[in-house]
Amino acid sequence: MRLILLGAPGVGKGTQANLLARKFAIPKVATGDILRAAVQEGTEIGIRAKRYMDAGELVPDKLMVELVEDRLAQADCRGGFVLDGFPRTLHQAQKLDKFLQQSQMPITAAVSIEVEQAEIVRRLTHRRICRHCGQDYNLIYNPPPEDNKCRICGGELYQREDDKEETIVRRLQVYRTETEPVKKFYAKKSKLKIVRGSGSTEEVFENLLAALTPAICT
Ligand code: AP5
Repeated sequence: MRLILLGAPGVGKGTQANLLARKFAIPKVATGDILRAAVQEGTEIGIRAKRYMDAGELVPDKLMVELVEDRLAQADCRGGFVLDGFPRTLHQAQKLDKFLQQSQMPITAAVSIEVEQAEIVRRLTHRRICRHCGQDYNLIYNPPPEDNKCRICGGELYQREDDKEETIVRRLQVYRTETEPVKKFYAKKSKLKIVRGSGSTEEVFENLLAALTPAICT
């Protein structure tokens, strides 16, 4: 199973990618997570990426393509993967397509999760993350304990720099101009599935599995 999750910031790609990775025992390859880890570790990639991420802009294609190709070439991806946050431009999609063809790893499906904008802003402005273990909380949908510490490791919770409302608006603009066209790329290849992303996490996961059933069975 080789899946691509598309969709605007905050539609739940990361949340659903975790569930898919667990259900199908495949690695989740999330470019946002990889970049945030690089920023935290202060690597060269992290230093180059940070200013784009904080401003809600896309990190340059060349860097992203190399990063993802290196990751997908690792042994644990031979049996499948779920890509979260890549490709995000037409150029990235074309490069990925070529790489996967050469590696004889055709994708099973590209799933676009769709949620209305007001709900996206609501989800993202209320997201909090554990600085230590990365556990996700949401002040509305999945509130942290009263002491505002992580339930799992006791770590401090923080708000992502790009989850401030002005930056969310910019991320959504960038999504519309740069990433929406990627949907057409996969539609032309008859690989695109559209899934409604509103409702509980469990409901969205059911929608997703239902949309994938024909692709899994062929
Ligand atoms: P990235 O980390 O990929 O951010 P994003 O795409 O903006 O996605 P998010 O993590 O904000 O949202 P999500 O859709 O994963 O939703 P989540 O499950 O977390 O990228 C960050 C930055 O890195 C980019 O802006 C860019 O600068 C750079 N970058 C990354 N990839 C790149 C690439 N390929 N090219 C160039 N640059 C790149 O959920 C969000 C919140 O909602 C959470 O609090 C969650 O608990 C909650 N939630 C989820 N599902 C539900 C539900 N059903 N009901 C209620 N709440 C829910």
